Amino acid sequence: MIIERVYANVASYDRSEWPWSLPCVSRLLEDGLRITAPVTFLVGENGTGKSTLVEAVAEGFGLDSWGGSHDWRYASHRPKSVLGERIRLDATPYGRRMMGSWSARKGFFLRAETALDALDREGFAPHSVSHGEGFLAAFRGKFFQPGLYVMDEPEAALSFSSCLELLGHVEQLVKNGGQVICATHSPLLTALPGADIVEIGEHGMRRVAWSDLALVDHWRRYLADPHSYLRHVLD
Ligand SMILES: Nc1ncnc2c1ncn2[C@@H]1O[C@H](COP(=O)(O)OP(=O)(O)O)[C@@H](O)[C@H]1O
Ligand SMILES: [Mg+2]
Repeated sequence: MIIERVYANVASYDRSEWPWSLPCVSRLLEDGLRITAPVTFLVGENGTGKSTLVEAVAEGFGLDSWGGSHDWRYASHRPKSVLGERIRLDATPYGRRMMGSWSARKGFFLRAETALDALDREGFAPHSVSHGEGFLAAFRGKFFQPGLYVMDEPEAALSFSSCLELLGHVEQLVKNGGQVICATHSPLLTALPGADIVEIGEHGMRRVAWSDLALVDHWRRYLADPHSYLRHVLD
């Protein structure tokens, strides 16, 4: 593991203003978030703040918030996000050695919206390949160096079998000393044994077992009987 706690350093803030208005961010200000496993999934409804958090973690580590690897730290010249400016990461002894020098910091930020751009810059996704193929090329080519890998809904571009392949790369990465923080809606990805799942919502943040996740329950019931859900939205 590289990072064992995420918190934010803010002297004063306006609770009515984004991002401080998000329950998960006020929780971060009050208690911080302990990271207890090499793979952490953030789950929760749309708009609860998953992207806000993962982007800030990537920025806090020095990854380009536009997406990409340590090699592209300054490539997009985007200013950091409001939370990214103030987020702090407590590193493990191993993480401190890695974070002690810029050249030793390794990692990758994969963000669905800008992934193709970022992968193109790094030579992983010529425009002739699909979004998902570009992701797979990046996993195959980049997910071996120990480092911090931050992902925002990687499943958006991936088929079922590609999601499974991703878990294989993640396991390899963790064996090599890497760490993953990933926002997701995927019941497949979150089933990775040993991963920590943090659910974000009105309550702030809490750890949840995979089998107790609302998203897993919904998928189970939907697959067993699609009509039980569809009747609520279709005439
Ligand atoms: N740059 C921004 N300025 C103001 N509000 C924002 C900004 N980015 C996101 N938000 C708001 O913060 C909330 C959480 O967004 P986001 O982190 O993208 O949620 P999620 O990824 O969980 O769907 C949303 O209501 C969104 O509209
Ligand atoms: Mg999001």
